[in-house]
Amino acid sequence: MIIDHLDQPLPGSSLHPTPSGRAYTDPEIFRAEQAEIFETMWNCVLRADSLDQPGRWKTVTVGREEIIVVRTRTAWIQAYYNVCAHRGMRVCTAPEGKNRTLQCGYHAWTYALEGELVAAPNLTSMPDVNRQQYGLTPVHVRQWLGYVWVSLAQDPPSFDEEVLGEVSTRFGEVESIDNYGIEDLRLAESKTYDVRANWKLIIENFMECYHCATIHPELTEVIPEWADGLASQRAGGEVHGSGFGEEIAAFTVDGSESGLPELPSIAPDQERKYYAITVKPQVFINTVPDHVIFHRMFPVSESRTIVVCDWLFLPEVVERVEAGELDVSRSVELFDRVNLQDFEACELTQPSMSSKAYRHGGALVPSEHHIGEFHAWWYQVLGEQADT
Ligand code: FES
Ligand SMILES: [Fe+2]
Repeated sequence: MIIDHLDQPLPGSSLHPTPSGRAYTDPEIFRAEQAEIFETMWNCVLRADSLDQPGRWKTVTVGREEIIVVRTRTAWIQAYYNVCAHRGMRVCTAPEGKNRTLQCGYHAWTYALEGELVAAPNLTSMPDVNRQQYGLTPVHVRQWLGYVWVSLAQDPPSFDEEVLGEVSTRFGEVESIDNYGIEDLRLAESKTYDVRANWKLIIENFMECYHCATIHPELTEVIPEWADGLASQRAGGEVHGSGFGEEIAAFTVDGSESGLPELPSIAPDQERKYYAITVKPQVFINTVPDHVIFHRMFPVSESRTIVVCDWLFLPEVVERVEAGELDVSRSVELFDRVNLQDFEACELTQPSMSSKAYRHGGALVPSEHHIGEFHAWWYQVLGEQADT
């Protein structure tokens, strides 16, 4: 079994093996990942305050399903499969909207925001129809860090273990992330990247900084220790904030002053530091003293992934940006450049995954060994289906 040698260096080498190229190109493997990972685990889908009023809804893709996320009349957020209980047409046919009820455009079955069937042509002449049973099919919803997370599993994995547990492994304790008050921050900028690469290449890229000196000149200027290739995520859960360079005033594209207040509750050891964590399977969180950069990924195919990146600031900062009194573009530009540099590298890697030269996979250097932990997890989840 390949998994056995993941813990072992290649014979006579300090390198560890990776999965074979097929893991990144095979539609069957991707289908298994959709089923076992994205349609089972907790996925972070949207910012809760983007549904700012009852009746406001958005559609999102989770695994192979389309999901409606809606703020109900009680102001709680619920989510449903976007599938009409009558004959299956998409109920919501736009990316977002605001309605008092959700009405299917085929035969006008109409659902309350809370999911039950409330009206349909001739429904009163069919009193035996159970309106809950023929309502929209719900999915599990949690809110955390100001985001809506959904799980399509019948019996979802424990949110505390799977999501909060991952954060505490990386951040030391889950309270450390609370210091940033992400829930109360506001969105100043969001960018969507259509990346022609397998989702695992994007995660693996995010987990290591061996590439930082080569492709991220602006970032290594701000955080000089990354020029040595050390990632801020280390094996075994070691917590490590990466310090700003001595000449650096803030996490901006040129290291100049951001003009922004620090987030008020960060701890002394979070000042002038950057922290990063990956919450499997599709979230990356980056924190700096005056803002938070929050990525979520939506795999589309074995070779294409949509990545949405949000830049979150204090509400008063966003108000001043909207009033034209403050400019956060230098803060945004730093990670936008990093994203573009990273995604270009991933896109230039993807075609090689189907090359004969990569049929036995590649290698991880010692500073990338925690990617081996990700691979071990992947093998464990997919079981025989991953046996490439
Ligand atoms: S399919 Fe939706 S009302 Fe018929
Ligand atoms: Fe990078």
